[in-house]
Amino acid sequence: MKLTDALIGEHAAYKELFDEIEAMAAVEGGFPQIQSATNVFNALVMEHASLEDELLFRALEPHLGTNGRLADMRHEHTEINRLLAQIEEAENTSDAAEWIKQALGVARQHFHNEEVILFPLAREVLDDDVLTSLGKAWADARNVTLG
Ligand SMILES: [Fe+2]
Ligand SMILES: [Fe+2]
Repeated sequence: MKLTDALIGEHAAYKELFDEIEAMAAVEGGFPQIQSATNVFNALVMEHASLEDELLFRALEPHLGTNGRLADMRHEHTEINRLLAQIEEAENTSDAAEWIKQALGVARQHFHNEEVILFPLAREVLDDDVLTSLGKAWADARNVTLG
């Protein structure tokens, strides 16, 4: 399996999670729900982002350089991280809810940007066997068996 297909599969799972988190953050009664939503969001999506960076972005650097598209994508990872960190400093529930909404918005847009811009570019500049061997590295990191 190609790494780009594996990452798209992760996006699909996280999109479901985003909807769940949005619903949790909308619950009246405040911080506990938002805090747990943020922790789940943070742990899963940031792990996805660092795996993506480590495996895909690094493989693309010799082809795309570190500016341009890759810089845009890394900036979006940082922005999601920054918004999530801000939630911990929120002084009231409505600020926290607003920031989680913003973080979800940036994350959804970021997934879209990768799906329509970066991943097609990766399929263009990286050979199929390179993407497949990166897919194996992804499976090792995720502890799944591709068979
Ligand atoms: Fe990403
Ligand atoms: Fe991604």
